[in-house]
Amino acid sequence: MKWFHEAVGYQIYPKSFSDSNGDGIGDLNGIRQRLEYLHDLGVTLLWLGPIYSSPMDDNGYDVSDFYNIADEYGTLDEFRLLLKEANALGIRIVLDLVLNHTSDEHPWFIESRSNLDNPKRDYYIWAKGKLVDGVEVEPTNWASFFGGSAWQKDDTTGEYYMKIFSNKMPDLNWESQAMRDELYSMVRFWCDQGVSGFRVDAVAHLDRAPLVDSTMDHDGRYKPDWRQFSNRDKVFEYLNELHDVVAPYDVLTVGEVGGGATLEEAIRYVGYDQHRLDMVFTFDHNWKNGAWNSLSEDYQPQLDLPGLKEDFARFQIGLYEKSWHALYWLNHDHPRVMSQYGNVSYHKESGKMLAATLYFMWGTPFIYNGEEIGMTNADFTSLDQFKDVAIQRKIEELEPHYSKERILRHLLVVSRDNSRTPMQWSSQNNGGFTTGTPWIKVNDNHSWLNVEAQLADPDSILQFYKQLFRVRRTVLSTVLYGTFELIDSALFAYRRVGETTLLVLSNFTDQALPYEHAVNIKQVLLQNYPQLVDTKSLVLRAYETLVLEVSND
Ligand code: NOJ
Repeated sequence: MKWFHEAVGYQIYPKSFSDSNGDGIGDLNGIRQRLEYLHDLGVTLLWLGPIYSSPMDDNGYDVSDFYNIADEYGTLDEFRLLLKEANALGIRIVLDLVLNHTSDEHPWFIESRSNLDNPKRDYYIWAKGKLVDGVEVEPTNWASFFGGSAWQKDDTTGEYYMKIFSNKMPDLNWESQAMRDELYSMVRFWCDQGVSGFRVDAVAHLDRAPLVDSTMDHDGRYKPDWRQFSNRDKVFEYLNELHDVVAPYDVLTVGEVGGGATLEEAIRYVGYDQHRLDMVFTFDHNWKNGAWNSLSEDYQPQLDLPGLKEDFARFQIGLYEKSWHALYWLNHDHPRVMSQYGNVSYHKESGKMLAATLYFMWGTPFIYNGEEIGMTNADFTSLDQFKDVAIQRKIEELEPHYSKERILRHLLVVSRDNSRTPMQWSSQNNGGFTTGTPWIKVNDNHSWLNVEAQLADPDSILQFYKQLFRVRRTVLSTVLYGTFELIDSALFAYRRVGETTLLVLSNFTDQALPYEHAVNIKQVLLQNYPQLVDTKSLVLRAYETLVLEVSND
């Protein structure tokens, strides 16, 4: 058993968590001031979004110095203090590790772009443009995740550099052993500082196909053919190297693998016998409400509950005893789960139901900051309130085709900014996040939806999270190591069989729904309605959830 099997993780988006100095941006001292809160919640592992020096084109995922802390966030000494105080409370810290790209302001890239013969030229991926009918175009027709081409022309040498994210995030060339060695030294540096591991950003993309146009059937000029740079064989070789680098340290590695990775690919990343990563974040369960159709005129959000169950079951069953796994509802790249699968009209019920449904599966939980109080998507009223570099690009692409209202409606269900609005600590100005002007609008619902109010309310979502993690400890061996079985039902129903047998029943609708099978209840471990359901007929009310210990028959 590894220490992280039992951990309760919590993801902090540093820019939006807690601002200690009134500049409108979260910072390390702000996080430090909230350690007691996190400890009280039951958190034992913090994943911090990138805190390195950065021009912040993509809020820190564009790193300009891997060995320093962003000015906005603090100093290396402040980081050491945060680490020390967190560790003293039994909370370990895991850093975001950005290995796919740097900022274009990183000294390596400044050198690399300076001339064709620079020793750092091959730290990045450079290629000449192609002539098509006498006109120069990008080396391939591949699209970038953030819109437009995956290539950017650089005037100094007239060549193009690859950038699968923003223009200011040139992709590193993992074929270069010298470049890889530099990254590995940096990884050792942070391990030596005492961090407990890494969430490895964009790990699926470290290798690309030969530079040949995609033949994908797609109308646009640039083809969103992510297979050209996802989950390719060499990525797995590189991860064996990274594994050797961190092996002397007792650290955890979680890879961001994204959507579309098959179970077999997941096992290649994290199988116990593969010597690569400890767990992966897959994205399949994040988009089961049709949100991507929200540009269409007749869009109605609609939960695909069978699809959602299937996404979880695939990994719960397929990875069982083959690897470890990460459990999470959302991260900073997704809308808020309360808005995706919950229901603000049943705020308490659905917020609690979502927690119980997820955290009795096996794996290490990662709560996303604000999830524990049921924060919702942003309440922006105009397009200029969005800050995400990827969204700004998207708005430019959509504006010629759709009305502003339609684009706004769309972004209010799909945008990454939905989960990046500041943490709502209190009903005070700016939700108690900052005394200054927040870098992004605070949701007005902080008037009632905030930590302070939920700490004072024994029946709040926040209190339920605490209770949940206490109860979970009492049946931990079953939760962590028992088998998982999805049960055929209109509810989200599953059974865990280990030292005890657990049955988790959740109603994802606002209608009463019966559980269709007979049950022999030994004990109700957790419930989200004050009065118990009639345990004979087991009809679950709107968004009701029950965690039961049952006889195994
Ligand atoms: C994945 C991160 O989660 C996302 O926020 C970022 O934009 C890209 N990787 C690029 O680093």
